[in-house]
Amino acid sequence: MSRLQQGISKLNSLSGQSNSGLSGLSRLSSPSFGGSNGSSGGKNLEELKRQIHSKLVERLDFSRIKDLSSDAMRKDIRKVIEHLCDTENPLLNRIEREKLIEEVLDETLGFGPLEVLLKDPTISDILVNGPKKIYVERRGKLEKTDVVFRDNDHLMQIIDRIVSKIGRRVDETNPMVDARLPDGSRVNAVIAPISLDGASLSIRRFGSNPLKLEDLLNYKAFTPEIAMLLEACIKARLNVVISGGTGCGKTTLLNTLSSFIPADERVITIEDAAELQLQQEHVVRLETRPANIEGKGAVTTRDCVKNALRMRPERIIIGECRGGETLDMLQAMNTGHSGSMTTLHANTPREGLSRLETMIMMGGIELPIKAMRQQISAAVDLIIQANRLQGGPRKITSITEVNNMEQDVIIMQEIFRYRQLGIDQNGRAFGQFEATGVRPSFVPRLEQKGVKLPSNMFAERVLLRD
Ligand SMILES: Nc1ncnc2c1ncn2[C@@H]1O[C@H](COP(=O)(O)OP(=O)(O)OP(=O)(O)O)[C@@H](O)[C@H]1O
Ligand SMILES: [Mg+2]
Repeated sequence: MSRLQQGISKLNSLSGQSNSGLSGLSRLSSPSFGGSNGSSGGKNLEELKRQIHSKLVERLDFSRIKDLSSDAMRKDIRKVIEHLCDTENPLLNRIEREKLIEEVLDETLGFGPLEVLLKDPTISDILVNGPKKIYVERRGKLEKTDVVFRDNDHLMQIIDRIVSKIGRRVDETNPMVDARLPDGSRVNAVIAPISLDGASLSIRRFGSNPLKLEDLLNYKAFTPEIAMLLEACIKARLNVVISGGTGCGKTTLLNTLSSFIPADERVITIEDAAELQLQQEHVVRLETRPANIEGKGAVTTRDCVKNALRMRPERIIIGECRGGETLDMLQAMNTGHSGSMTTLHANTPREGLSRLETMIMMGGIELPIKAMRQQISAAVDLIIQANRLQGGPRKITSITEVNNMEQDVIIMQEIFRYRQLGIDQNGRAFGQFEATGVRPSFVPRLEQKGVKLPSNMFAERVLLRD
């Protein structure tokens, strides 16, 4: 039996059915493909790739193969591609042949041209503006790549594959969709008619390898003193809000902070597209769902928060707070689920507080402004402000305690801050982390929980220059 035939019989047995939809594969062993007489030596790789891929798709019924991602399946399909490749064009050199086979495999089983980018661990964001313009972010800087899709249809196929993997769809009536890759990376796709110059895809990569505490310390995103305080606050169950602009590292911080949660506590996470990767044993992950085409079946963050309260959580982590769920979340923080965390979009801690007020109003609940502020000041203990500075560095720029109210105003005091002092010759911001000299009023709460901080922890000084 030839290698190919062995591969095929294995494919058949893997699919677990005698009539597996793969029977057409037997046709592969016939040598009568068009263009297989060796005259195709001059064909460019792109065209060859397309031909081999379409032959493969013609002959395999992929909808009937259960586990496309398994290694065994990859191996088997690889054999078929190798065979097709050799019949199509025996004049390829070894390196070209290998590249072609890998690319057809990626095309067939993975995310096509995106695969090379997804395999590169230095890339944090992938931004596709139509089929021919693909940008990536490396170390805080955007750069254009030479990766391209064949055309918009090709891009659409890949988008379809990504979103259908998690049971969502994208089409003219539903042109904007959130999804995630199997490794946890977050994906947003927008297609025509909303996106005007070809489909647009934004991938936030950190799935397989999220930044850890040590990485963030190495990048000088904050200092060891700040890390120590944050650890103490999480252990002592303070309620924490992480505030910041788009892409400044909020989710990364939330993930890192959650590593301080003791392993025996029951945590429920609620997100639009599950990005968090908690290391704890006892975690229940909930993901919201958009409405279907008839406008039915939506499950909002608010629904999830309400439901989570019935699941006996010790802490609730909301990936991003952006609307109607705000009051429910604050109430949960106030009533037995202290130690909860969330992120929100705001540029300063003070703005974060007013954002909370706006979001309470978005929930359609009429509360006098004073009552609203009372809820907020009673629930939130700490605001961590994150920022992406000029030239790329992402830093915690403020750690602010939320105190009580004085008349109608919520009193806050900054404990640590990052002060930007200028821009260096490479266009990168520089500055220093400082302790403001304020001793937070929650220190006794930390001590009650047995957390002891060094006596000079809050003394006014410069902590680190960067
Ligand atoms: N301190 C840091 N240094 C370098 N890269 C970082 C840092 N923090 C986060 N990143 C990277 O920056 C990207 C954005 O991070 P993250 O997703 O946490 O931001 P975000 O504020 O949650 O974004 P969004 O507003 O889109 O939800 C990620 O790829 C992450 O790995
Ligand atoms: Mg985020």
